[in-house]
Amino acid sequence: MVAVSLSLLALGLLAKLGRAADSVLAPDWPFDVTTLKAPDGSITAKFVSFGATLTELWVKDRHGNARDIVLGYDDNTRLLTDPDHPVFNPIVGRYANRIKNGTFSIPITKDPQPDGPNVFHIPTNDHDGQDTLHGGIYGWDRRNWTIVERNSTSVTYFHLDRADEGFPGYVEAHVTHTVENGGILHTSILAQPTEKTPIMLTQHIYWNLDAFQGADDVLDYKLQVDSSRVVAVDGDAIPTGKFTDVAGTPFDFREAKPISWRWNETVGLCGGECSGYDHCWIYDKAHEKTPGISVWSDLSGIRLDVTTSNPATQVYTAYWLNTPRKLVHGGPSLNYSKWSAVAIEQEGYIDAINTPEWGVDQIYYPGKDYTWESTYKFSTIH
Ligand SMILES: *[C@@H]1O[C@H](CO)[C@@H](O)[C@H](O)[C@H]1NC(C)=O
Ligand SMILES: *[C@@H]1O[C@H](CO)[C@@H](O)[C@H](O)[C@H]1NC(C)=O
Ligand SMILES: *[C@@H]1O[C@H](CO)[C@@H](O)[C@H](O)[C@H]1NC(C)=O
Ligand SMILES: *[C@@H]1O[C@H](CO)[C@@H](O)[C@H](O)[C@H]1NC(C)=O
Ligand SMILES: *[C@@H]1O[C@H](CO)[C@@H](O)[C@H](O)[C@H]1NC(C)=O
Repeated sequence: MVAVSLSLLALGLLAKLGRAADSVLAPDWPFDVTTLKAPDGSITAKFVSFGATLTELWVKDRHGNARDIVLGYDDNTRLLTDPDHPVFNPIVGRYANRIKNGTFSIPITKDPQPDGPNVFHIPTNDHDGQDTLHGGIYGWDRRNWTIVERNSTSVTYFHLDRADEGFPGYVEAHVTHTVENGGILHTSILAQPTEKTPIMLTQHIYWNLDAFQGADDVLDYKLQVDSSRVVAVDGDAIPTGKFTDVAGTPFDFREAKPISWRWNETVGLCGGECSGYDHCWIYDKAHEKTPGISVWSDLSGIRLDVTTSNPATQVYTAYWLNTPRKLVHGGPSLNYSKWSAVAIEQEGYIDAINTPEWGVDQIYYPGKDYTWESTYKFSTIH
């Protein structure tokens, strides 16, 4: 009985996918470009179906000149084929960031026995096989999403995750990207599972607020994060279960500071010889209405404020980048390289599914949908 109803449910999902795909598939799908433009001209965003990925984002600097402030490729098929897989601005799932040893159990337990009951193994594609990063080898960022609805300011993509990468059950995911007057980009996600599964998503956008005009790195940008705790991690960037109080440390951005304010002390913080940050800051309060994180460049004058439904934000200063730049950023002869951008990712507590002592519930099931929302508001400083 159970098997029959599950497969009927799966058929229903497939039928829906078929309808979505039939109605809108472009010849160059899944790399078909959708352009959204706010009526007041303040913001223009381009997306491809592959990964529901943001490929260009144009906003105005303090002189009123539009700049493309996100990293990416001129050839979007590199999102699939670039072996470095820097994850340029897609939706990341089914579980963003890292999973210790690519393993978890449902219900969650500390260090699950590898062959125990209800233990799941996801490909370990990070730190020489010590953990899973961003949902496995082919996470949601490297899947062929389809367009279900689109107009001049909004696009909705759909992806059916068919127990991919070893996660339990199917998940039906809808992502809507919208631009609005006043320099606003809004992204919302609804994920609906057919079985109990962990879900923790993010949108992995790499920002360079100068668009590589006058500066090649983000070290002088000002950063402000409403957080007094970062998740403490081990050498594989896996949570230890503890939190670091930011007071007196290089993690203290409660008041705006240059990103590089204590740069020399960040050596090794993001693993190996890496300097800079790749950390999960836990917000001190909900930030659905007021910005949880802000970043701006005194050079271009472009400022970004992020509001979100998420309890945390990852800040990654992109130490490991080495990828030819887009033409508009001086490529392809010049590369994006270390500190070329700051990735700001709204997310849940990282690897909470292996950290039961936190008491953070990231297991979803039919009747308990997962939702995610973030708003990126652009303005200029003078
Ligand atoms: C990690 O997972 C693998 C199975 O994928 C298992 O064989 C191994 O024992 C696990 N390691 C630890 C330390 O639990
Ligand atoms: C997704 O798109 C890629 C690139 O065009 C293609 O190689 C692959 O077969 C597609 N996968 C599915 C399931 O359609
Ligand atoms: C575009 O679609 C969105 C989402 O469905 C809707 O809220 C908005 O009003 C539409 N805008 C236009 C110009 O039709
Ligand atoms: C950081 O290290 C560099 C190179 O050793 C040195 O020139 C610089 O003064 C140091 N900065 C600070 C703030 O300590
Ligand atoms: C730029 O990146 C490409 C791809 O990683 C690499 O082959 C090339 O050597 C890099 N160029 C420089 C100057 O580092």
